[in-house]
Amino acid sequence: MTRTPLIAGNWKMNKTHLEAQALVEDLNDALTDHDFDAVDVAVLPPFVDIRTVQTVLDAAKSSIGLGAQDISQHESGAYTGEVSAAMLKALNVTFAAIGHSERRQYHGEDEAITNAKVKAALGAGITPILCVGEPLEERRAGKHVEYTLAQLEGGLSGLSAAEAKQVVVAYEPVWAIGTGEVATPEDAQEVCGAIRDTLASLFDTDTAQAVRVLYGGSVKSSNVADIMAKDDIDGALVGGASLKADEFAALAGNAA
Ligand code: 13P
Repeated sequence: MTRTPLIAGNWKMNKTHLEAQALVEDLNDALTDHDFDAVDVAVLPPFVDIRTVQTVLDAAKSSIGLGAQDISQHESGAYTGEVSAAMLKALNVTFAAIGHSERRQYHGEDEAITNAKVKAALGAGITPILCVGEPLEERRAGKHVEYTLAQLEGGLSGLSAAEAKQVVVAYEPVWAIGTGEVATPEDAQEVCGAIRDTLASLFDTDTAQAVRVLYGGSVKSSNVADIMAKDDIDGALVGGASLKADEFAALAGNAA
């Protein structure tokens, strides 16, 4: 089973729509056909930038994929401030990050919410990028694998194997996010391998082999190749290094 690697740039709360336009234009210019032959590349801008970025990507007939950083678990109605799967789908959004550690930490998102959001995304034909990963205390206590797998099981609860196959899982240890402290390739592989084993036991081997498992946390152009050399790591969810077109294109190039 060959899995096409995915390099996804999570812009977090950065870039006005004007800055977003410039960034995605520069990124599209910097990426080559060779990159796109080898890896899928996507950007996850803030909601208010998505329409602008979509317009640029459409006009350029770009191969860059478009994602959102979150999605509502509700279909429509009185949910002030929320953005629905149908709204995102109408803007050609094909990915949605779900359960990012910053959503879990600052917005109280738990397994019930991530699970509902995964289902909402799948229901609209949007690929969920389910984010899992342990805080520093759990790592220090040696509980990082079980903590992360509990988030995985909760997020995928009630899915069929066919649905689970469409999910992307991103392992992002909280202590490595935005800190410059990258997990070693061995640390990342330990958990990503455990994620794949768990997918096999929750669903089946076929599903486990099909699902893309990404690593995230201080990934840069200089370390992505070593991380992705590991068997169970199929790409990266990138924060800071996705905010500069040259660096993100170099990162995608090194992943390719
Ligand atoms: P950094 O790459 O800035 O550490 O962020 C990782 C992340 O949280 C991506 O979702």
